[in-house]
Amino acid sequence: MSIGTDPSGSSDPYAITPGYYDLFRAREDALPSVPFFADLTPPGADALEIGPGTGRLALAVAPRARSLFCMERSATMRAVLIAKLAQRPDLRPKVTVVEGSAPAFDLGRAFDYVYLGGVLEHVPPSERPALFAAIAAHLRPGGLCAMDMVLRMPAPDQDERVMDEQDLGECRYILSASARRLGPDLSRLRQTYRTYLRGELVATESVERLHHMHRPEPVLKELADVGLHPAEGDGLAQATPLPDDPGAVVVRKAAP
Ligand SMILES: C[S@@+](CC[C@H](N)C(=O)[O-])C[C@H]1O[C@@H](n2cnc3c(N)ncnc32)[C@H](O)[C@@H]1O
Repeated sequence: MSIGTDPSGSSDPYAITPGYYDLFRAREDALPSVPFFADLTPPGADALEIGPGTGRLALAVAPRARSLFCMERSATMRAVLIAKLAQRPDLRPKVTVVEGSAPAFDLGRAFDYVYLGGVLEHVPPSERPALFAAIAAHLRPGGLCAMDMVLRMPAPDQDERVMDEQDLGECRYILSASARRLGPDLSRLRQTYRTYLRGELVATESVERLHHMHRPEPVLKELADVGLHPAEGDGLAQATPLPDDPGAVVVRKAAP
């Protein structure tokens, strides 16, 4: 059994995940929502994705953008993204993948679209102001910013249960998860990947990490504090029609 732990600084909770990440997100409606982030891409935009992971969103945004910068802190997730891009001669000239970590970052350039899918849950609320300031500093006037994981549901608390099963050749992969609520906006999450070969358990790998909840009111206030205001209506968006939609916000930097 191998265990990845939470980044209280040292280890990467995605170190063992990339091999399974897309396998358990093969369904069209898997989260984070690819159509939500892709459809928001301003045509011909210079875009920045924070935490692109294996590139599920990036590969859908890039064809609509003029350029796409991907800033990812996990070496293994970056490796999968780079391997996918290697097979895409159409995208190679315009997608850049760099090592980098929110909240504070300086890429020395500005973008028309900055987005984060499935990333905010990794960011402690105390780091949000620094993250939002960095996003605002990297947006051109009129630029758009979208992020999911801004939601009202309670922090998860559940005993281990099977979330999904996938077959690949003679192997069956089973993903289970459990969560312990540590506070109103914080849980400790454990995901376990079990591999069965012809019915026999041959590998068990677990990952533990903290899971932060972000609420719409403070998020929208802190975005407004750095000059990012609702792009439409109250700024809250439904990323999917699903009942467990991971609520999103879409904001814009004021044009001069
Ligand atoms: C749930 S995955 C989402 C990946 C991708 N955006 C998608 O929608 O499939 C979260 C990704 O964000 C990355 N990540 C988490 N916190 C980050 C941070 N502070 N800076 C940069 N990347 C981060 C993780 O390494 C991981 O690849």
